[in-house]
Amino acid sequence: MDVIKLNCFKTFQSLVSHSPPPMSAQRSPKFSMTSTLHSRSRRDKDSPSSPSQASVILARTMPPEKIEIFKSMEGWARNNIVTLLKPVNKSWQPQDFLPDPTSDGFFEQINELRKRTKDIPDEYLIVLAGDMITEEALPTYQAKINGTEIFHDVTGVDNTPWAIWARGWTAEENRHGDLLNKYLFLSGRVDMRQIEKTTQYLLGSGMDAGLGQNPYLFTIYTSFQERATFISHGNTARLAKRHGDPILAQICGTIASDEKRHEIAYTKIVEKLFELDPNETVVAFADMMRRKISMPACLMYDGEHNNLFSHFANVASRIGVYTARDYREILQHLVAKWNVEKLSGLSSEGREAQDFVCGLAQRMQRVEERVLALAEKASSIRFTWIAARQM
Ligand SMILES: [Fe+2]
Ligand SMILES: [Fe+2]
Repeated sequence: MDVIKLNCFKTFQSLVSHSPPPMSAQRSPKFSMTSTLHSRSRRDKDSPSSPSQASVILARTMPPEKIEIFKSMEGWARNNIVTLLKPVNKSWQPQDFLPDPTSDGFFEQINELRKRTKDIPDEYLIVLAGDMITEEALPTYQAKINGTEIFHDVTGVDNTPWAIWARGWTAEENRHGDLLNKYLFLSGRVDMRQIEKTTQYLLGSGMDAGLGQNPYLFTIYTSFQERATFISHGNTARLAKRHGDPILAQICGTIASDEKRHEIAYTKIVEKLFELDPNETVVAFADMMRRKISMPACLMYDGEHNNLFSHFANVASRIGVYTARDYREILQHLVAKWNVEKLSGLSSEGREAQDFVCGLAQRMQRVEERVLALAEKASSIRFTWIAARQM
């Protein structure tokens, strides 16, 4: 198997899934940048391969009774979801971890930072730069949340718990890319211009995780993604400590704990949906997993390398920051958290979705070692982010 096709962990699932990946998953970053409209029409021609997929695709915008379900959750969301946002006056800010430009010791603090980061291995820097670029593409994610039928903030200052959460979540996330960006800049270990270029390309390319405007799909996707970022930032924290930079370890650990809170919020929303509308929710969960959870920065491109994300993901896997095992374990965690195996009273479509989701992790586990070995052996490019030093 061609290692290039390890893109976005989709090959991992393709090995165990019967449905073909969506067309959008097969395009190169370059292609996606030429025309979003074009790629949309390619997806439209991609006819569903099973009845259950067909019905969910049709449900990508929701019928009025589904909107009522979210309306009925508003009081609960105010008390259980909005409260998971941290008040600004109790929140950390990037400056808490950075040299203070107003202090006399500013240049000394920079020198200390540069000493701490001097011996950090290139592979780690590549992963941290990729994580930073992913965080810096926040405008895309805000557009996604605002594009859903429920989180949609019509006036820009809507008072629904969903809009309050969407704005607060964005405001919390905004600090992640900001802090990593400044830290990497001051370290002098990376080529900031190339990193900035990659971010600009990524924002221009956008993302298509197959969510449409559907908040069922959106909250299932974000439950998965927030947990994935919690795990990966947690691992970069652990490795930073090992590489002799306790401040960087603290930075990554602090970001990881934000991601954990976000994971709790989205997971709770889906938990509630399972309670109120188990059939639609399990069908949406299966639909999401059939499509494979594509990473938000999947369309990453630096102006030189197609499949840049695959190369980045291979490095992340090699140094143990985020691997195919993590992907499978997140799925298992969510299946257990949402008690999917115990759901009862489902329609035949719901039962089919339940069987698919509950058996998927086991099927993945059978090919996991093979996927990990592929990432291990994958040839690497010269990452422009580290000034073209050979890996
Ligand atoms: Fe983040
Ligand atoms: Fe997050």
